[in-house]
Amino acid sequence: MPQLKELLTTADESLIKSLSAQAREVADSVYGKKVFIRGLIEISSHCKNDCLYCGLRRSQKSAVRYRLTDEQILDCCEKGYRLGFRTFVMQGGEDAWFDDERMVRIVSEVRRRYPDCAITLSLGERSDESYRRLFDAGANRYLLRHETADKEHYEKLHPADMSFDNRMHCLETLKRIGYQVGCGFMVGSPFQTVETLYKDLQFIRSFQPHMVGIGPFIPAHDTPFANQPQGSVGTTLRLLSIIRLLHPHVLLPATTALGTLHPMGRERGILAGANVVMPNLSPTEHRKDYAIYDNKICTGDEAAECRNCTEYRMRAIGYETVVSRGDYKS
Ligand code: 5AD
Ligand code: FES
Repeated sequence: MPQLKELLTTADESLIKSLSAQAREVADSVYGKKVFIRGLIEISSHCKNDCLYCGLRRSQKSAVRYRLTDEQILDCCEKGYRLGFRTFVMQGGEDAWFDDERMVRIVSEVRRRYPDCAITLSLGERSDESYRRLFDAGANRYLLRHETADKEHYEKLHPADMSFDNRMHCLETLKRIGYQVGCGFMVGSPFQTVETLYKDLQFIRSFQPHMVGIGPFIPAHDTPFANQPQGSVGTTLRLLSIIRLLHPHVLLPATTALGTLHPMGRERGILAGANVVMPNLSPTEHRKDYAIYDNKICTGDEAAECRNCTEYRMRAIGYETVVSRGDYKS
């Protein structure tokens, strides 16, 4: 697709509109007028990493740190199951407290209680052995955004003790083990260029992930990037459409970050070709503390409120949320 760069840069409104319409048509032809829902459980706000963009980075002195207990996590799943969720996403910072023994115990118990559900993990970089043990315990999917496919760009977003090569190694390992794998990146992160975005798209084309998570960069207070401009909603929508067209079957969420920057961001994401939303199932008392970026939405709501709100919002644009695992369709 030689015109990829043109699609990334054009200011031609009619071209952008037709891109979006085509992407939605393709998504409808694969997944219908349906949106998959994932129940997001934010299990830990501790993180050993110091990514320059993230409000939960290790140096963030003002961050409130919490960890959910096994019981709290299982309670979230129980609530979620009753609300119709058939995928649970356990997400957290890179927190040594959630070592293999603890995570295997949790995953095995969720697997035992909910044999009909998909278990997704989003816990950052771990060892090959750890990924293997969690898979054997019953996890099915793993989200690990690559953040950028350009090594130099990666090094500008992360401290020297993080490695682009290891990130890529983790993604390859996850796929080899048999997970459905999600990569992704922020739109409008500092130092991002058309060239780096082009590499992201090439990477998606060659890696063929099952899922791609993208959302606008939103500055987080007290971080090195606190005064950088936020990503653009329009560019995020445009990239969602391009990714849908490059990879018709991909599972593509309309993210919370998109909903944070625009009151109709998630709806617009779906209409631009996304087919997944991830309402929050975390205990309400901890939500505001999972503060990756500023002004995050849904931090005061109960799980049931987010579930209803999502259903209502999708209906309003002609889409139904579905009670099913919502696996990748190959
Ligand atoms: N703005 C938007 N997204 C962010 N992430 C981290 N910090 C920010 C931010 N300031 C994204 C990263 C990470 C995911 C969990 O959240 O892409 O992989
Ligand atoms: Fe959480 Fe709307 S999805 S309140």
